[in-house]
Amino acid sequence: MVRELKKILVDHIHDQKLKQYAAIYLNGRLIDIGCGTKVYRNLLAPYVDEHLGLDHEETIHDKSNIDIFGSAYKIPVADESFDSAVCTAVLEHLEEPEQALRECHRILKPGGVAIYSVPFIWHLHEEPRDFYRYSKYGLEYLFGKVGFEILDIQALSGFWVTFGQLFVYNLYRLNRGPLRWFRIIDAIGLLIQGFAYILDHIDKSERWTWMYMVVAKKPDVS
Ligand SMILES: C[S@@+](CC[C@H](N)C(=O)[O-])C[C@H]1O[C@@H](n2cnc3c(N)ncnc32)[C@H](O)[C@@H]1O
Repeated sequence: MVRELKKILVDHIHDQKLKQYAAIYLNGRLIDIGCGTKVYRNLLAPYVDEHLGLDHEETIHDKSNIDIFGSAYKIPVADESFDSAVCTAVLEHLEEPEQALRECHRILKPGGVAIYSVPFIWHLHEEPRDFYRYSKYGLEYLFGKVGFEILDIQALSGFWVTFGQLFVYNLYRLNRGPLRWFRIIDAIGLLIQGFAYILDHIDKSERWTWMYMVVAKKPDVS
């Protein structure tokens, strides 16, 4: 049970924001670019008619939930065939982010909306396919360059949650193998996350965010 809870803080914050945005912006046919195991299937189901997951053959994740095999750079679907897109925690794994954003723009209908989550301060993961971290200004530049209009961009945490969560991840990393019986580490981890969550509400300095969530619209044709 405690193990289950260990990642709860950042996942919880991410899910809450995604749900809030989904209720406002997502509808119709949704493509989930770099879907992995399609963890947001249930969360997004109330808002869309169809949820298709795209991922590439080389993914390190379980492939059983992928509906379309292909690259984020060359999605095998027609132009303007989706109303909505999500792309969570993928942009940092793409060598050519601009090309992938152009491809998402191509497959969205005019007026269609994409929700991206992108890390700013986070440890290396899924190596060696971990290429970049993004500031708010870099994101505004890239999305604008390919023709998206940014409707909203939110930092999901401040200093306390970011570094509290990284500290806890590192603690759990050490709490493996023969030391695994040391359950007090799990309890300390939960306590730190709880405090970090409260402190972030009191003092949220967005310059230290672990993640941004971006809502981007393909402009309507006039
Ligand atoms: C950190 S995981 C995120 C998975 C999922 N979006 C989520 O939020 O749980 C990154 C995903 O990007 C996928 N990915 C990496 N490079 C890709 C590419 N060129 N085309 C499509 N998917 C890619 C990986 O296979 C992996 O599923």
